[in-house]
Amino acid sequence: MVGQKSVKLVNGSQEEDEVELKSLISKLSEEKKILLLSGKDFWRTQPLPELNVGSLKTTDGPNGARGEFFTDGTPAALFPCGISLAATWNVDLLHKVGSTLAKEAKAKQAQVLLAPTVCLHRSPLGGRNFESFSEDPILTGKLAAAYINGLQGEGVAATIKHFVANEQETLRMQINSVVEERALRELYLKPFEIAIRDANPWALMSSYNLINGLHADMNPFTLRKVLREEWRYKGAVISDWGGTNSTVESIKAGCDLEMPGPAKLRGKALKAALDRGDVTIQDIDESVERILRLLNKTGRFGAPLDEPEEKTLDTEETRELIRKAGVEGITLLKNNDGALPLGPEVKKIALIGPNVKRAIAGGGGSASLKPYYNTTPYDSIAAAPGCEIIFAQGAQIDKWLPLASNVCKTPSGQPGVVLEFFKGDKFGDSPLIVQTRAKTDLFLWDSAPVEVLPAYSFKVKTTIVPETTGEHQFGFQSVGPGRLFVNKQLLIDNWNWTQAGEAMFEASVEVVASIHLDSGVPVEILVESTNETRPLGKAGAPTHGYGGCRIGYQESPTVDLIQEAVDIAADADAAIIIVGLDAEWESEGYDRQSMDLPKDGSQDRLVSAVAKVNKRTIVVNQSGSPVTMPWVEEVPAILQAWYQGQEAGNALADIIFGNESPSGKLPVTFPKRLEDNPAYHNWPGENKKVVYGEGIYIGYKHYERLALDVLFPFGHGLSYTEFYYGEPKISGTVLSSSNSLTVSVPVTNKGKVGGQETVQLYIRDINSRLPRPEKELQGFSKVALGPGETKVANIVIDMYSVGYYDTSIPGWIAEAGEFEAIIGSSSQDIRGTVPFKVEESFSWVF
Ligand code: BGC
Repeated sequence: MVGQKSVKLVNGSQEEDEVELKSLISKLSEEKKILLLSGKDFWRTQPLPELNVGSLKTTDGPNGARGEFFTDGTPAALFPCGISLAATWNVDLLHKVGSTLAKEAKAKQAQVLLAPTVCLHRSPLGGRNFESFSEDPILTGKLAAAYINGLQGEGVAATIKHFVANEQETLRMQINSVVEERALRELYLKPFEIAIRDANPWALMSSYNLINGLHADMNPFTLRKVLREEWRYKGAVISDWGGTNSTVESIKAGCDLEMPGPAKLRGKALKAALDRGDVTIQDIDESVERILRLLNKTGRFGAPLDEPEEKTLDTEETRELIRKAGVEGITLLKNNDGALPLGPEVKKIALIGPNVKRAIAGGGGSASLKPYYNTTPYDSIAAAPGCEIIFAQGAQIDKWLPLASNVCKTPSGQPGVVLEFFKGDKFGDSPLIVQTRAKTDLFLWDSAPVEVLPAYSFKVKTTIVPETTGEHQFGFQSVGPGRLFVNKQLLIDNWNWTQAGEAMFEASVEVVASIHLDSGVPVEILVESTNETRPLGKAGAPTHGYGGCRIGYQESPTVDLIQEAVDIAADADAAIIIVGLDAEWESEGYDRQSMDLPKDGSQDRLVSAVAKVNKRTIVVNQSGSPVTMPWVEEVPAILQAWYQGQEAGNALADIIFGNESPSGKLPVTFPKRLEDNPAYHNWPGENKKVVYGEGIYIGYKHYERLALDVLFPFGHGLSYTEFYYGEPKISGTVLSSSNSLTVSVPVTNKGKVGGQETVQLYIRDINSRLPRPEKELQGFSKVALGPGETKVANIVIDMYSVGYYDTSIPGWIAEAGEFEAIIGSSSQDIRGTVPFKVEESFSWVF
């Protein structure tokens, strides 16, 4: 082992560093090596203090750097979600988002960001679609590469995830994704391949699922053959949290780090495997080398101290960037008769919808965080000078009862609850630790105090003062056993629950009970719960897990919400209805059950009713994936506003009032009906197996092959101005492995306001040995144009743009023959075509 001297590799050249890494490994004891291959705690790796090598601290996630608490942690900048960023089609912007996220991660003392998510949108129902970019692998890969370059340029590691074939949340730890190799290569591996070639992410996260029969963390095909051998990837592979499924096979496949810590399948188990000869010291050394390389790249050599993360960086520059990213992501789907933007002629606006006064800033799960602040549509639209705003909620859409924390107070009058932790699962006389928490979604995955682990109990105490008198409802779900008392009376007994729900990864369904309460009379709420695992009797399951509960509360409604909305809309110059989903409908941990807006048609009925009384009805939909729009013909304007982080309200107001022209384009097709989508027959699988039966035809490739009418096509998005495309030109006629071509197209802004247009380039292979999609996106370029201005968009195509994967080679092939470069303003709005050819077939591996 190396002596007490600190090790510093960071100043050497790359080659010198590599040699030193090898020499350092040879000096590490077996014990230290094993220590490095699993986490120290939930978010950190093991330090080597005697060598002056610190821990690596990881943090989620794609749209922010959350820090070390899953819920209610240190405030952080909340960026637009993945699909919203993708809708910008702006690689420079994604680069800037990446570099700003690096600063955010550093403020949380983290060196590794668990992002970006590059899984594809196979079905509109994917619970994490909002968090990932697109249905298209090229758009996904290019945006991910820009984001990673931005992030790593500032010294923070990206962890591109989840490798691979992780397109659903249903049974995500056990589901076997059965994917033909060609589809795997051309679609699901592709974003990783592009990012590794163009941005070299320093880390990669294996997914929870199995790929063709073997778990992702121990899959020699994806991890060894493709990633390490073909792509020559030297970065660290980190298992998804709790996604290390073996000791021997995962090390042998090259999964370097088990997370979270402390070790479950490494540590002692790995030492025993080594002693038995099931793994060799060379296997271990390979992984140790990759972890040391990551420590070195992120500056952990000679920086052993873990600093507290209380720093926040709420800067004006970050605020502006988030607002700009939000504006550029908003996608104008429809705009008849100049319904948008709203001009000075609009004096009175009816602002309607369940999402008007709520900040629908992000989806749920590990991508969520506590933002520095929120901007709601109401506040931002109402801030416009000279407008009278009238509001109506219009519909109720909560998946579970709204959090009681919206109204509850601690005994000392603070918003939130008192949370008392007891050591052991039997409560006891006095709590060991008492905390105040702001929210009643008490997900204790990573935040139960270490002092009470491994078995603990907890009480939640708070008070509600009802606003009205009536039969009010409480909703309760718990991870372990739990009971809810109201005024000391047991209202919900969930102690021995048997029916699993969706919240908090492993909680029960929500149990709802009503109780008569009087307006103005304080009500005491008490919850008792433990972290014993439920349901009881799961063979072989650990006796204690992570614990947690969620408390909801709702007073009985007193008004007809739709009628109220119709009444105010009839009397306004324009009606804006903000509909959509939220972090409970769209989240990690489960998939959506329907493509319709929740709940029970209430939002659809609301839109139709309002559209009947106000001709200038503008619908704004906030969701991270497509929804059905049965009212599409009834309203003149529709904006798709995704989840846009802390500047969501301001970005929307910028577009509504025309301060900015919309320039978002759909990164995903909006089908007319759920039944039309490519994964419909194979979703979400059966008997823990999901067959990717649609093969290479997902997204627009599927809809085009079937000539199916869609609601809005891939790449679609309108502007407040109009763009005229000139004749496209190509720099040559022959593309080869050494000769790329540039397609150039002049674009003119024909309107009276400035705007941006994304020119899309699709390739059609006229004749190929194997079937290929009608066309495939291979490049794009976003140009900003003032009124009357013309610019030339240049898009380069190379061998990767024409290849497909042929398993009979096996490898990528560009077949000799004729091709077309198709220029479009969307996948269906084609503005020009130029031919070129490949003269001699050629093939390659990476
Ligand atoms: C998610 C990852 C995330 C990790 C840590 C997992 O459940 O799948 O994306 O980075 O948790 O929060």
